[in-house]
Amino acid sequence: MESRNIVLITGVSRKEGLGYETARQLAGDGYKVIITARDYKKAEALATGLQQENLDVLSMGLDISNAESVAQCAQEVAGRFGRLDVLINNAGVMTDLTSSVVTADLDVVWSNFDSNLLGPWRVTQSFLPLLKKSHQPRIVNVTSGMGTYDDPVFGFNHFPGVLSTYALTKLAFNALTVKAAKELKDERILVNAVCPGFTATYDGLKEQGARPVQDGAKSIVWAATLPADGPTGGFFRDGIALPW
Ligand SMILES: NC(=O)c1ccc[n+]([C@@H]2O[C@H](COP(=O)([O-])OP(=O)(O)OC[C@H]3O[C@@H](n4cnc5c(N)ncnc54)[C@H](OP(=O)(O)O)[C@@H]3O)[C@@H](O)[C@H]2O)c1
Repeated sequence: MESRNIVLITGVSRKEGLGYETARQLAGDGYKVIITARDYKKAEALATGLQQENLDVLSMGLDISNAESVAQCAQEVAGRFGRLDVLINNAGVMTDLTSSVVTADLDVVWSNFDSNLLGPWRVTQSFLPLLKKSHQPRIVNVTSGMGTYDDPVFGFNHFPGVLSTYALTKLAFNALTVKAAKELKDERILVNAVCPGFTATYDGLKEQGARPVQDGAKSIVWAATLPADGPTGGFFRDGIALPW
């Protein structure tokens, strides 16, 4: 039986991304980390690099929008390890950069909801039986200050720009977190939403004030490594509970 805590992270296809850095930090803390991507070869290449740093990381294919792919991945984890300790729903899209409520293409809106809300919901449902077999199960949902009313920069009450589609998907994901936390409380599964903060995962973002990916990932790692008496159903950045 695997003695290390096992964590699975969705959406790890880029070295610059939050998922990759979260994997690096958790593996450095002694976790066995399964990194997944819809393009398996990308996850495999990233895992190989991390293994060369002597980190306990392996890769699997997982397209969160494809029920068959999600079921297959859950089956693979069940077959190899029989349990999962931490699920990090990191995968997400922001494909609708100019959308306003007035002009949005609703087919695009629908596909963004499929990726950012139904995707992690589907993954959560499929991995629940494995999480229930863990001594200390955790679910971390990577949402955003954009999916809040009160974030002073990006919240609905303050952000001057559009990005309506992304904001609405993340607002719904925050709400899903609260509902899941309540339903799973008796199972001892801590379910929290985390905003990594505005993070420089793409060229040009640093110049706009985004912080280093190491800092954004730390926010996610905090929720993944909560003690048994840690919070559930909250929305956090850097370990601080924020109103939303
Ligand atoms: N960077 C920020 O400032 C910031 C702020 C707040 C929240 N976030 C959130 O943090 C998370 C990570 O973002 P990031 O900045 O690190 O960007 P990123 O590297 O683009 O991460 C998003 C990942 O999701 C994957 N993905 C999309 N659809 C998928 C699907 N159907 N199945 C599996 N994987 C899928 C992408 O893979 P492909 O390469 O295959 O598309 C990519 O690996 C996202 O949820 C994002 O909304 C980021």
